Amino acid sequence: MNKFFIFCFILLIHSCSGTKQLVQQNIDPYNYSSTKKTIVSNGAVVSAHPLASKVGLQILKEGGNAFDAAIATQLALAVVYPGAGNLGGGGFMVATRSNGDRLALDYREMAPASAHRDMFLDEKGNVMEGRSVLGHLSSGVPGTVAGLFETHQYARLPFKKLIEPAIALAEKGFKITAREASGLNSISGNLKQYNTMATALQKEGQWKAGDTLIQKDLAQTLVRIRDNGKDGFYEGRTAQLIEEEMKRGGGIITKEDLKSYKAKWRTAYAFDYKGNTVVSMPLPSSGGLLLHQMMKMLEKKDIQKMGFHSPEAVQLMIEVERRAYADRSEFMGDADFYTAPVQAITSQAYLDQRMQDFIPGKAGKSTEVLPGKIKVSEETTHLSVIDREGNAVAVTTTLNNGYGSITVVGRAGFLLNNEMDDFSIKPGVPNIYGAIGGQANAIVPGKRMLSSMTPTIVLKNNKPFLIVGTPGGTTIPTSVFQTLLNIIDFDLSTEEAVNKPKFHHQWLPDRVDIERDFPSTLAKALEKMGYQMHPRSAIGRTEVIRVLPNGQFEAVADKRGDDSAEGF
Ligand code: DON
Repeated sequence: MNKFFIFCFILLIHSCSGTKQLVQQNIDPYNYSSTKKTIVSNGAVVSAHPLASKVGLQILKEGGNAFDAAIATQLALAVVYPGAGNLGGGGFMVATRSNGDRLALDYREMAPASAHRDMFLDEKGNVMEGRSVLGHLSSGVPGTVAGLFETHQYARLPFKKLIEPAIALAEKGFKITAREASGLNSISGNLKQYNTMATALQKEGQWKAGDTLIQKDLAQTLVRIRDNGKDGFYEGRTAQLIEEEMKRGGGIITKEDLKSYKAKWRTAYAFDYKGNTVVSMPLPSSGGLLLHQMMKMLEKKDIQKMGFHSPEAVQLMIEVERRAYADRSEFMGDADFYTAPVQAITSQAYLDQRMQDFIPGKAGKSTEVLPGKIKVSEETTHLSVIDREGNAVAVTTTLNNGYGSITVVGRAGFLLNNEMDDFSIKPGVPNIYGAIGGQANAIVPGKRMLSSMTPTIVLKNNKPFLIVGTPGGTTIPTSVFQTLLNIIDFDLSTEEAVNKPKFHHQWLPDRVDIERDFPSTLAKALEKMGYQMHPRSAIGRTEVIRVLPNGQFEAVADKRGDDSAEGF
């Protein structure tokens, strides 16, 4: 193996004057670093990994639009960011096209045909510990590859071209970061336990920064996708390998499940906030709805005057978070299987009513603030892309938590998700993010599990202003919510909006999660009001592109990871 192998992309791009220019751009997978901020005029990509962002940038430079770049970046992430980038998971794309069209694509995983409501319970009705989280049974039918091909109708370059960088990265390998090394080391025991064959993610001894990760089986799967399109994944050898893996490991996904999987176009979820239009993901993500509820519960209160990170502002935000998440647990699930009362829980009268028991300076209690009353029956990663034509793309995609089910499909080289845990496996039993649910999010064959992923585009005068999203399980909507308020209401710089400490309340457990650098005086002030403060690890990894008043793009990558912003 040549350690200094360098990908040479020889590009032909057209300059504004129409003359052809030969541009040579190198992406060196053995020598790269993160760029946390860039201000550019022609196009920008922010993603969780420098190599993936560079691949996206390359595609933009080659004449691809934001959709091309989003596809190529996701494919590269499936190789260089195995903890969350994926072929074996799912995601959502929210986009606004230069002609004003709004798009929302759902490529969330779905429950296999033989899944059933109580599949994670034993004969006494108790939860079988860990079965929805690790190993073969925890996987839903993957959606990512179907999503990429649906997205491609809005792209400009051939799919074959968009997948080449990912194939090269898998085939030749790339240098892993210290973070990746520690991630892989942390799952080494589980990799042994939940795999039926050796995987490329395993190594004699410990991984360290600078080691090369080569994924030959994954490269072959990518080649089959390149040569056979969507069928290269959902049919033929890859589908066969997935089914065989399931049989070896006691999973239930079949070739029929794979063949029947479809990405679904949804109506983008939109609402106005202080003269901006927020465009986000509808069900089966709770993201758009939660954002709507949280932002509209406080829009009339003068939060700007209270000030960024003032106890008054943070308390108000905690209380709207509490109320929105209580509703999530009761009313939200895949709308194709459950009649979600979307109108009822987002009407302004309802939201105003929800805030009637809010007392400034005094903590609410989740035992008293229950889901609202209505009159009806009833390790993720984000990337943001913009191009010079004005297409904006926000994609959040996931295997669920880090490295998903930990199960790699034998001879196919990709990790499967553990998204079944995002269903409510038993009413009232929390998932790995502590979220509870019931009927609305119960397991049904073919149903998609409720998500928190919130790829979001904010429009000003109908033009993209912010492209935002983050991983983080249930903290995703609150991170997006806070990032938007930080910019729109508190007038923070984009970097501050992304990097300042975040907090999170999700109704149950009744506590405020805070990042470790959350100001201690603020935490004390909130404790005095009656809140239980709960310091925890980093909340999210938010990637933002902001369109500046002069039309330039400011791309900012979260400091919390290897995330990187590229542009030109
Ligand atoms: O769809 C969801 O809400 C979760 N599966 C997302 C998981 C996630 O963000 C993990 N990242 N830290």
